[in-house]
Amino acid sequence: MNYLAPSLLAADFGQLKEAIANIEEAGAQFVHIDVMDGSFVPSISFGMPVIRSLRPYTKMIFDVHLMIEDPERYIDEFARCGADYIVVHAEACKHLDRTIAHIKDCKVKAGVALNPATSLDVLTYVLPQLNMVLLMSVNPGFGGQKYIPYVTQKVMELKKQIEERQLDVHIQVDGGINLNNVDEVLAAGANVIVAGTAVFSGDINQNVKAFLAKM
Ligand code: DX5
Ligand code: ZN
Repeated sequence: MNYLAPSLLAADFGQLKEAIANIEEAGAQFVHIDVMDGSFVPSISFGMPVIRSLRPYTKMIFDVHLMIEDPERYIDEFARCGADYIVVHAEACKHLDRTIAHIKDCKVKAGVALNPATSLDVLTYVLPQLNMVLLMSVNPGFGGQKYIPYVTQKVMELKKQIEERQLDVHIQVDGGINLNNVDEVLAAGANVIVAGTAVFSGDINQNVKAFLAKM
């Protein structure tokens, strides 16, 4: 099954509650929540209090993408805030195996994100522990960037590995996805599509429905 995960980073932060109601009403299943610390990535977005405040207003799956150094420090807190998935960057973890185990101990689904230039090899031993792999298709830190074309090949390679090993792991792709390139990303094997700018510019309801019609 394929899922759409609109990224709140592109929403109007003065109306996050309404943004969530809009995307849920239009049929989005996930809400992608980008947490940035100004260190792992240049920008700072928002953190636990915002996530906690939004949790009562929706049943959508909270997909929390942690673009923060040493995310191990905050796993318990993000779990308590209502995250359904916690996704950490392999590049930001000193002890990736331990961090994944920690997320699962909190009864939260575990994901690992890879920057565009990071090889799939870092996943070899942990893939069976994961519920989701997030392949970044832009360098993380900002919305509204252009999709990096070589990531399509990376998605295909990951899909092949998951099938060969008979695993049940979502492939999420994040960055620069719009209605013109989403078909390519889905055809490569991704099944969780993050879209920020392409969902929140213009008519949110129509944008979500246009994505869902392709999935
Ligand atoms: C980038 C974030 C993305 C971002 C995607 O660092 O991880 O989730 O919001 O935004 P668009 O779809 O505009 O590239
Ligand atoms: Zn993201």
